[in-house]
Amino acid sequence: MNLKDLYINFFVDHGHKQIPSAPVVPENDPSVLFNTAGMQPLIPYLMGQPHPYGKRLCDYQKCIRTNDIDEVGDTYHHTFFEMLGNWSLGDYFKKDAITWSYEFLTKHLNIPVERLAVSVFAGNEYIPFDEESYNIWKSLGIKEERIAKLKENFWIAGETGPCGGDSEMFYWRSNDPVPEVFNPDDERWVEIWNDVFMQYVKNEDGSIEELPNKNVDTGMGVERTVAILEGVNDNYASSIWSDVIELISKISNTPYKNNEKSMRIIADHLRTAVFISADNAGIKPSNTDQGYILRRLIRRAIRHAKSLGIDINSNWEQEIAILLINKYKAYYMELEENKDIILEVLANEKTKFNRTLEKGLKEFMRVTQERRDIDGTTAFHLFDTYGFPLELTIELANEMNLNVDIEGYKEKFKQHQELSRSGSAEKFKGGLAGNSEVETRYHTATHLLNAALKQVIGPDVHQRGSNITVERMRFDFNCDHKLTEEEKEQVEALVNTWIDAKLDVTVKEMTKEEAIASGAECMFIEKYPDIVTVYTIGDNISKELCGGPHVKNTGELGHFKIKKEEASSAGVRRIKAVLE
Ligand code: SER
Repeated sequence: MNLKDLYINFFVDHGHKQIPSAPVVPENDPSVLFNTAGMQPLIPYLMGQPHPYGKRLCDYQKCIRTNDIDEVGDTYHHTFFEMLGNWSLGDYFKKDAITWSYEFLTKHLNIPVERLAVSVFAGNEYIPFDEESYNIWKSLGIKEERIAKLKENFWIAGETGPCGGDSEMFYWRSNDPVPEVFNPDDERWVEIWNDVFMQYVKNEDGSIEELPNKNVDTGMGVERTVAILEGVNDNYASSIWSDVIELISKISNTPYKNNEKSMRIIADHLRTAVFISADNAGIKPSNTDQGYILRRLIRRAIRHAKSLGIDINSNWEQEIAILLINKYKAYYMELEENKDIILEVLANEKTKFNRTLEKGLKEFMRVTQERRDIDGTTAFHLFDTYGFPLELTIELANEMNLNVDIEGYKEKFKQHQELSRSGSAEKFKGGLAGNSEVETRYHTATHLLNAALKQVIGPDVHQRGSNITVERMRFDFNCDHKLTEEEKEQVEALVNTWIDAKLDVTVKEMTKEEAIASGAECMFIEKYPDIVTVYTIGDNISKELCGGPHVKNTGELGHFKIKKEEASSAGVRRIKAVLE
């Protein structure tokens, strides 16, 4: 059995409900571009909102971290990775979490305890030393000299939000004899799992408060753990990557040895591009936000494919993408569903970049002939005319020990006002999506839109995703055709009739059976807890299982207007709408 199945089975056996992996593009959190940790989609629940699946959850979550894109190429950096996790939302705490971690590592993964070491939170001026975790590890048989007390064992996703002291587990990844004493600075000890005890929240002003619940958030990286279990020191040599690397080697007719960096970059970047393109958010390569990351990844992979001598006009990227899709589709069905879209995204971007890549590289060689640093105007010219993302120019320049005037580039860029990467930078700052009044109004409007679509298109229409900002709402739903003008007008008119009718929005707790019997809209009803909250608009105009928040009366919404209706992914349409 593979690691993912072993992990999920273990925690399901211990009373956890498996939750599906959330999309890589967060559905209701415009403050970040991608989910960066398993806990990210769970932030509202760690903050205290009841989770529809209950208090014990586990999953494997698709994560993307973009800060390290340029580090990819070594043995262990990846832009996309899967994170295994189990959560307690105010249920069990340190004793069970640590005991289960220990049991899973030693009895199910059969890691000898001699090769394990752990760390616990040493405490700081606000929060005391985590003596409880220390004693639990000791009672399980971990020797004192293998338990480090560290000040940095405190985990938070960004600047603010749920957080707490953590306890990390390390594996001795070396053929050297295992030292008696654990030295966390010795890189042969690699971290494999992190149990975070989330009982605090950090506010904007830096203050730390207790959360309503004492939660557990754990995370284990699949790529690293598989490499450890398979006894390889290069993550890309594990079974997760070996077939992909082999294929790249075959296509390029070059061995992995001495070409590791380019092959790892191609493997990693194409895998991430496949997962971004497969997401129902419908991201396409562009010059902003997630689209820009997708573009950077594909273009960097193409550049490295070219450097390996791959005929970049051939179908090389399709071959690799198909291997990846087949490899992962049993766990992520969106890969199969959106296969055509994925292949099209890659092919289109390749065609676009191939048109200018050759000339751009020539231009690059020309301007660097005198080995002078690259000024902002030139970097912008390479971007604007030849489609070289800034980071690609920097990488090329670094290979020749040259610098790029990044500030100068940004200045040029601003002048042209084409690319809103400053917008992206804002989004990288992290933090929770606000529940502002405007967003609350949009939230209620999504329920009305959902109900109107059911009336106009048919009862089988269901929500597939949504995203709300203070400026607009986006709503994805299953539908096999492009909406006609007439359908759009009818939907708009219905929503506005309900707004004008000033309908009350009411919330009620009820049992799951009652909710089902009342015909409330929801997904995966069988996995909901016994008691659920149901929001009803008017006299059954809309009824949905939902955590809120919502307005009290539809009269607060303003005028509803559809701005755009388009395809999102296979069989899924997307509406962008505003409240005026
Ligand atoms: N959130 C913690 C991490 O990412 C544990 O899952 O390490």
